[in-house]
Amino acid sequence: MTIAIYQSIFSLILVGGFLSSTSLAATCSGGTIGDGICVDNTLCCSRFGWCGLGPDWCDEGNTASPPTPAAAPTITGSPPSPVPPTVPVILNDDSRMIAYMGNWHTCPTAAQLTQYTHVVLAFAVSYTWAPGKNQCDTQCNIATPPVCNNAPNDSLISDLHAAGKKIILSFGGAGMGGSWSSSQDDCWDYCFGKEEKVVSRLTEIIDDMNLDGIDIDYEYFYEDNQNGSGFTKGAQAQKFLTEITVGLRNSLPAGSIVTHAPMDSDLVPGKAFYKLLKDISGTLDFIMPQYYNGLVRPALDGVDGSGFGQETSISLYSQLANDYFGGDATKIVFGFCIKDCSGTNSNANAVQAAAVMSELSSVYDCNGGAFFWVVNDDTNGSWSSQVNQVVQLNAGCAASNSPSTVAPSSFVATTHPSAAPTKQPNQSPMAAPTKGTPNPSFAPTSKPSLRATTAPSNADGFEETKCCPPDFTGLRALDNCSKFFHCVGGAVVGPETSCGSGLLFDQKFMYCNWSDQVACVPNVC
Ligand SMILES: *[C@@H]1O[C@H](CO)[C@@H](O)[C@H](O)[C@H]1NC(C)=O
Ligand SMILES: *[C@@H]1O[C@H](CO)[C@@H](O)[C@H](O)[C@H]1NC(C)=O
Ligand SMILES: *[C@@H]1O[C@H](CO)[C@@H](O)[C@H](O)[C@H]1NC(C)=O
Ligand SMILES: *[C@@H]1O[C@H](CO)[C@@H](O)[C@H](O)[C@H]1NC(C)=O
Ligand SMILES: *[C@@H]1O[C@H](CO)[C@@H](O)[C@H](O)[C@H]1NC(C)=O
Repeated sequence: MTIAIYQSIFSLILVGGFLSSTSLAATCSGGTIGDGICVDNTLCCSRFGWCGLGPDWCDEGNTASPPTPAAAPTITGSPPSPVPPTVPVILNDDSRMIAYMGNWHTCPTAAQLTQYTHVVLAFAVSYTWAPGKNQCDTQCNIATPPVCNNAPNDSLISDLHAAGKKIILSFGGAGMGGSWSSSQDDCWDYCFGKEEKVVSRLTEIIDDMNLDGIDIDYEYFYEDNQNGSGFTKGAQAQKFLTEITVGLRNSLPAGSIVTHAPMDSDLVPGKAFYKLLKDISGTLDFIMPQYYNGLVRPALDGVDGSGFGQETSISLYSQLANDYFGGDATKIVFGFCIKDCSGTNSNANAVQAAAVMSELSSVYDCNGGAFFWVVNDDTNGSWSSQVNQVVQLNAGCAASNSPSTVAPSSFVATTHPSAAPTKQPNQSPMAAPTKGTPNPSFAPTSKPSLRATTAPSNADGFEETKCCPPDFTGLRALDNCSKFFHCVGGAVVGPETSCGSGLLFDQKFMYCNWSDQVACVPNVC
């Protein structure tokens, strides 16, 4: 991880408005030639019109060509690609699907909103955007933020409420200041010492806009000379973060949401930010670690690997659950970045994110769910609907497991006992096409790994190896070609996908075709 890496992510987030101008014409189906988009927008469309993952699909001027075409399991036309049924998405105290909505982006569609349990309005700020360095309001005045498309949108808020969803105001973001060396922004500096004003103004905005709570998105320094920065306001920053969090918990109406979304590198024992949030964790309804700043790389490593990142995400996640919330994993919402985080190699497409959430649920079958940056990259709800196939499997588990733990409406600091996770794996996590249908071939109840694994015996006692040939990127058959899985650079990535009834995976063309037209070749490595 380098500081330059941070620059690229956060400057991308900052200038996200420019990104939305990217538009690709044409579709990518049935082998029709085009540089179009795939129905599953997390896949790339090759110049031969096929959707897939890897260099043959995604590289500029990709060279995929018949007769070993880069082809897709998700082709449209004939045969029909199986579309997993939409799972019902209901607000619970667990299994959340929380979407950050950039308020400069175009407004979301109904298909997107259907997938979300919460929308986070990003961001309320005390600056005017300017190239290079934002113009801080030296009095820390916070403007009423637009909702989407840079404009107010009361009807979006009331429609979300009518659909039983929550809208959380996010205060902060990279434009307020970042602890990476390339960030010029320092607008937080002008807010330190103005805690009461910040609390009352945010409370007012939340009330005026009829929002449901606050997220504090602080990515700036909080320790003196942090990373050699020469920063001198560590004590003021820590006081500020503590007082606005506790202040907002006490000033917002009972039942309001209070949360933080820290960077993974800040949410590590030993860091002052970790300590201060731990001390006031009783004010938080849940916490949303950004597991995409580079310390961990779950999309590449799985939750329990550290080949690409320095730490495993499950170790940080478990520590957080134990240290902050007495082992209650429903209080932690796992953070993903769909497209803006190539700088830390942390973009997670839907398949990767679903795999991560599957693995997470093999450790914590009842967990807090997922959040992602950003709605604008969740085209037509394609990412969230696929990840929901996994996340929503356990929806409502908190209510059935234990009396729900409601954050107090008035806060007095207490420390939480540390405890081991109480939930043991007790079901096969999966990206199943239908809720509740167990997939016999995918049961990583032992330590999951994104590297080659041998699938356990299935019901027939038939052993099949889920493995990738060295350096291979593409799709491989599984379970007598009824399913396929992804390989990237020789490593298994994500869960397998069923072709669906009447279809079999054709290894030669790398997509599902009518079963009578496929001669199954079992996967061997
Ligand atoms: C408000 O949001 C809805 C849903 O995203 C959108 O369809 C509508 O165009 C927006 N209205 C305005 C005025 O932007
Ligand atoms: C700050 O430095 C520490 C240790 O040198 C490193 O782990 C961390 O990632 C750095 N943070 C940033 C934002 O560069
Ligand atoms: C968006 O998704 C819905 C349902 O998931 C589907 O019916 C619709 O065709 C999709 N629209 C586009 C443009 O892909
Ligand atoms: C796959 O095919 C083999 C050989 O025909 C058979 O023995 C085995 O039971 C099949 N396995 C599944 C999962 O259908
Ligand atoms: C299905 O497989 C057959 C035989 O390989 C092939 O000729 C046909 O084009 C495939 N169907 C589609 C829609 O690609």
